[in-house]
Amino acid sequence: MIQDHAKASDPDLAQGIALTELVDGGKLVGHVGDEQILLVRRGIEVFAVGAHCTHYHGPLVDGLVVDDTVRCPWHHACFDLRTGEALCAPALSPVARWLVEQRDGQIFVRERRPQPKPKPRGKVSGKIPEKIVIVGGGAAGFAAAERLRREKYQGGIVMLSNDDAPPVDRPNLSKEYLAGTAPENWVPLRPDRFYSKNAIDLQLKANVNNIDTPSREIALTDGSKVPYDRLLLATGAEPVRLSIPGADQPHVHTLRSLGDCRTIIEQAKTARRAVVMGASFIGLEVAASLRTREIEVHVVAPDKRPMERILGPQLGEFVRSLHEEHGVIFHLEDTAITIDGKQVKLKSGNTLEADLVVAGIGVRPRIELAEKAGLAVDRGIVVNAYLETSVPGIFAAGDIARWPDPHTSELIRVEHWVVAERQGQTAALNMLGHREKFIAVPFFWSQHYDIPINYVGHAEKWDDLAIEGDIAAKDCLLRFKRSGRTLAVASIFRDVENLQAELAMEREAAA
Ligand SMILES: Cc1cc2nc3c(=O)[nH]c(=O)nc-3n(C[C@H](O)[C@H](O)[C@H](O)COP(=O)(O)OP(=O)(O)OC[C@H]3O[C@@H](n4cnc5c(N)ncnc54)[C@H](O)[C@@H]3O)c2cc1C
Ligand code: FES
Repeated sequence: MIQDHAKASDPDLAQGIALTELVDGGKLVGHVGDEQILLVRRGIEVFAVGAHCTHYHGPLVDGLVVDDTVRCPWHHACFDLRTGEALCAPALSPVARWLVEQRDGQIFVRERRPQPKPKPRGKVSGKIPEKIVIVGGGAAGFAAAERLRREKYQGGIVMLSNDDAPPVDRPNLSKEYLAGTAPENWVPLRPDRFYSKNAIDLQLKANVNNIDTPSREIALTDGSKVPYDRLLLATGAEPVRLSIPGADQPHVHTLRSLGDCRTIIEQAKTARRAVVMGASFIGLEVAASLRTREIEVHVVAPDKRPMERILGPQLGEFVRSLHEEHGVIFHLEDTAITIDGKQVKLKSGNTLEADLVVAGIGVRPRIELAEKAGLAVDRGIVVNAYLETSVPGIFAAGDIARWPDPHTSELIRVEHWVVAERQGQTAALNMLGHREKFIAVPFFWSQHYDIPINYVGHAEKWDDLAIEGDIAAKDCLLRFKRSGRTLAVASIFRDVENLQAELAMEREAAA
């Protein structure tokens, strides 16, 4: 999305730098010509890779080196320093790598190296499937298809999505794209040609309504049938709709798809006042984006503080003042009871004028297909550590999947972009017969104006909340603990510590 521009102050790595300038375990940024390069030293080896993450261009020099990998400070993508491969989503494309020469105590970066072929994985169990069908063209479905082809899977891939747009960067729909600060070409995860080039049969407006598990065939609402050898369900979640009188009017919206976002943007062009229902992540990101468009925004929510249930009262209070500083007017501990034309009537008796109403009041996992097919469900589709459902050959990933989380030892389901993508990737490997457990620590981020909140781990309940740093100064890290154990960490501008917390949780679960 953003071009590399080498800074004049960065050392010219073609001219060489002293090895002593790079301590063991250290990293620095330099350039060769116009390209910014990250150098990382590990013992006697020095690696040279692209300095920016291929997700949103995060500065890898501010990330964390773990063994022969580097993790991005912004949303925790992980790259192999030897091969450049994007090992963990949300980055899917590799970083470039360069040849490094060490001579007379100097390090020189030479020419760019070609991308190596992926290393063959271990043995697979069973026969390689001839045809894999993916239901869902979102985070999990796309990441699965991409991983299948990255693994050089030669069989057929059919991706069925009832959306009318190819897979999009959904988090952007409530952030830059909605705010009008990112062009629409930022939104697709890949250009249209990616699918034909990779022989991924992406079918849009294809609504799957039945799975015949004994004959391994799915049925679409148009009557067509598609056989599969392995099936991935990645149907995501759908927004809960307002059920009050007047909620069916054309200026009342939910936000999930690119189509929803385009409609909201169109109306936002002439709207002067908006009411956002719900003070959750999506609701407040929408509020921030509409404020960027200089629309008056009122947020109505039953909560005492925004996001308190997930982030705790202190961070909730901070989020509230942050939005108030940007002009958002909150109506907390209140709900809307009717929308009469442009008038939103609240339980408290207040009435708000709204040219535009956006409801961000939660989502429900789309599990009807699984229920009808007799798969085990429990407020989500129950999967094992390999993301396989109760029916062999059918896998589930993303917002619909409830999996055994090794970190909490509980069956959990989350609605996070990075988790959905990583589950799609793991499910892809397991559909090919690898036995890879899904062990990633859940991670999400949320962006409010210029403030990112990063959250790693999973804490539905906690009995202690330890705050490090200063929340008001936007420099803090909060540890959510239960019985003395850290279950999750939320932070603002403490990216390395957030990455370190992730690593500690991984190591704790592996011990
Ligand atoms: C506006 C917005 C902003 C967000 N921001 C963030 C963020 O900042 N950070 C974060 O961590 N998470 C964020 N999320 C959540 C994140 O996007 C989801 O967790 C993620 O998209 C889940 O991926 P998924 O593949 O499970 O489902 P989805 O991405 O929703 O994909 C589901 C797909 O299945 C298709 N489908 C459903 N039913 C059928 C059917 N019967 N037949 C055919 N196709 C079907 C849908 O059309 C869709 O293509 C955001 C979500 C939204 C809506
Ligand atoms: S910018 Fe690196 S993970 Fe998002």
